[in-house]
Parts: sequence; structure tokens; C-alpha cells
Amino acid sequence: MDNDVYRARRDRVCAALRAAGGGVAVLPTAPERLRNADSEHPYRHDSAFYYLTGFGEPDAWLVLDATGRSLLLCRAKDAEREIWDGYRLGPQDAPQALGIDEALPLDALAEALPQRLADQPAVWFPFSGYEGLAPQVTGWLDAVRARARTGVGAPTLQRDLLPLLDEMRLFKDAHEVALMRRAGAIGAAGHVRAMQACRPGMREYELEAELLHEFRRSGAAGPAYTSIVAAGRNACVLHYQAADAELRPGELCLIDAGCEYGSYASDITRTFPVDGRYSAPQRELYELVLASQDAAIAETRPGARKMDSHWAATRVLAQGMLDLGLLDRQAVGGLDEVIASAAYRRFFMHGTGHWLGLDVHDAGDYLAQDEAPCEQPDGLGGTAVKRPSRRLQPGMVVTIEPGLYVRPAPDVPERYWNLGIRIEDDALVTPSGCELLSRDVPVAPDEIEALMRG
Ligand code: GLY
Ligand code: MN
Ligand code: MN
Repeated sequence: MDNDVYRARRDRVCAALRAAGGGVAVLPTAPERLRNADSEHPYRHDSAFYYLTGFGEPDAWLVLDATGRSLLLCRAKDAEREIWDGYRLGPQDAPQALGIDEALPLDALAEALPQRLADQPAVWFPFSGYEGLAPQVTGWLDAVRARARTGVGAPTLQRDLLPLLDEMRLFKDAHEVALMRRAGAIGAAGHVRAMQACRPGMREYELEAELLHEFRRSGAAGPAYTSIVAAGRNACVLHYQAADAELRPGELCLIDAGCEYGSYASDITRTFPVDGRYSAPQRELYELVLASQDAAIAETRPGARKMDSHWAATRVLAQGMLDLGLLDRQAVGGLDEVIASAAYRRFFMHGTGHWLGLDVHDAGDYLAQDEAPCEQPDGLGGTAVKRPSRRLQPGMVVTIEPGLYVRPAPDVPERYWNLGIRIEDDALVTPSGCELLSRDVPVAPDEIEALMRG
């Protein structure tokens, strides 16, 4: 039963509050947002709030205390508004439906919060990312302090709730892994459909439509982020969005798209030939990126540091840049010099992966907070004294996404000009290595060509 999953997570938060000296935790969901004039963006709940409640309505708050009690504030039932905007759960049915101890209508917030905070040692809330929350908490604390003469004590500590929630979210439980496997499978099916539909002369937005069709017909809420469908040289723009460029024979198409299923994201990139056959220079670069991804996948295992996969991929790419003449050995030296000077950044200028979960760039610390700062490469050709990246553990989900982007320049072989290639998969760290969640779409060039022929 899903309610048990969310209750267990809330219980862990309450236990952590107890272990840290007690207090009350307050967490709102996301606001509704206007797109233009009075048209709204499609509503998306806050990820941390949903993680603890499974409740997707706007205008809701979760209040937890160290004794384990949970309170939800949500929109009151409203027959008139429900005709226009849809069904509301309402505070009367919420406890039973969500497994929460108690629910109140939203307009009880200003009274309920000072009551809950009375005689508590601490108030826990997110210190960032929730606009207007800090002043609201200050207002509740002022209301508690105003009762001092009646013998009521106000919390003397304000504590950031996010590190606690982020750390929990970093390790996916069985419920999450099942949803992420499905998000990976649907995302991959979208890529397969786009590759099969691709014909020279089509426009980028037509392939975007194929992705969307597959996501929605499979029960996904939609894309997890704005899909990138980049024809030809558009692939060299990292944050390009599908527009109306024509897909031309002899060129590549880069698609970076994933779906959101059950509130969990997939994040997948494939780069394929518009006419179904990689040219020789395209294949040379593609196989290099694939080899770098293989090297990164091998470093995605328990005990390896988060950055190990990045450096493994980077070394393969940098060696390839030297071997293929993208970098001139006379000018930049050998592999170690290219790594030390970060000369490879001319063609590979982003990271190799990020946490993935309810958010595409998911919550979780990247650094080993329990280790001392030390000198290490800053990735820009220098060094910095900072904590090392943390070690991977089973249950973490990370993307693995090396790429190469070649802009025209007189000192770069012309055969590679305007090629932009990225390969991105989603990996669940397992006890023995990692499980790729997004491999229902082929990645080997021969298999991609076979799929497009079929
Ligand atoms: N699609 C977003 C990313 O790859 O990080
Ligand atoms: Mn991506
Ligand atoms: Mn990504």
C-alpha cells in the first residue's frame, strides 16, 4: 500500500528530529504558477512534499513533530471551485486517504502553526527554494513569543530541513526504483519511436511530437524537462530546445528527452543519423563518446567516488581528441597535460552526470561531508581545496552522459565540424555495480542503424 511507503518516510523524518533534539518540521508544497496573463503552467507539486505525502494538490502543508505526529493542511472542499478546477480531497477525507494523523483546512494555517510551535525547541523548514517561507516562519515564531507572559516557550532554534530530506531522497527505496525503472523504459520507448519515425525533411518539432506521444500514451505525465531535439549543428548548443530546423540527410540528430512517470524522471540522450547511416567521421566521434561512457559506467559502482566516472570518461575523450587530431599534440602536449590544463573542455565542457529522481537534477549532496578538504582538480585546469566527491552506494541513481561538441575552427579537422554527440543513460547503483534503467533504446551504432532500417 502506497500510504505505508509515505508514512515510513515521515517516520524516518520524525526519528531524525528526535535524534537531533526534537522540534517541529514544516514543509509546503509548490505554488501554482502563472505562465502568461491568467493562464497557468500545468501544476507540479513540490518533490520533497510529495516524497513525504504522495499528495499532489496545490495549497498544502505538512507539519511533523518529533513525537511522530503528522498534520496536513489542505484546501477545503468547495462545491463551486470544484466545478471549475476539479476534485479536492479535503481535510475530512485526507487522514484516511493519505494515512496522515490529522488534517485541517488551509485557512487554519496562521492559527495552527503557532500552536504547534509552542514549547518546541526547534522549527525545521527548508532554508532555500521556497519563496516567502522564512518570513512566514518568523511570523509564526513572533505569534508564539507574544504568548510568553502566559508561560508559553518559543523555539530558540531554526534548522534547515533540506539536508535531511535530500539525504533520504538520494537513496531510492524499492517503491522508487520500480517507478524509475518504468520511467526509464517509457523514456527509452520514446527515443525508439523518434528514431523509427525520423526521415530526412522532417522538422525537429515532429520528432518532439513522437516523444510526447509515446510518453503520454504510456501513462507518463509528460516530459521530465523540455525535450532537446537538435538537428545538425544545433546539437552543439547544450541547452537547445526542439525548434523548427529541418532534419537533413548526412546530418546527426541529438535527442535529450526523458519522461516523468509517477513523479520520477528519466533523462536519456541518443544521437543518431537522420538518414539511418553514420558517416565515417560521425562514427569515429560516436564510438569515442560511447567508449567514454563505457569507462564511466565501469566506475559507477559502490565505493567509487562520484567524480571517478567523470574522470574516467574525460580521460578516454581527451585521448581520443589527441588521436583524432581535434587537439594538436604539439600545442597541448600529451594526455596528462590535456587533463591538467583542461584543454579537453573545448570539446567536452559539462559534467558526466547528476543525481536523478523526483527532480531531473535531483536532491543530494555531491561532496563527502565526512571527509576533510584536500587539493584536487577543479575541472578548469587548476586545483581547489575542497572536500572530495562522495562515494557511491547502492540505491543512488545517477546519469552518465559524456559528449563531444565540435564547432568549426581553422585548427580543427573539417570532417568533424558541427558534430555534437552525447550519449546519456540512467544508472541505479547496485551492490555489485550498476543497473542501466534506460537501455531499452539501443546505443551501439550498428544497433541504432538496424533499428532505423527496420
Ligand atoms: N537533460 C538535462 C540533463 O541532461 O542534465
Ligand atoms: Mn539529459
Ligand atoms: Mn542529464
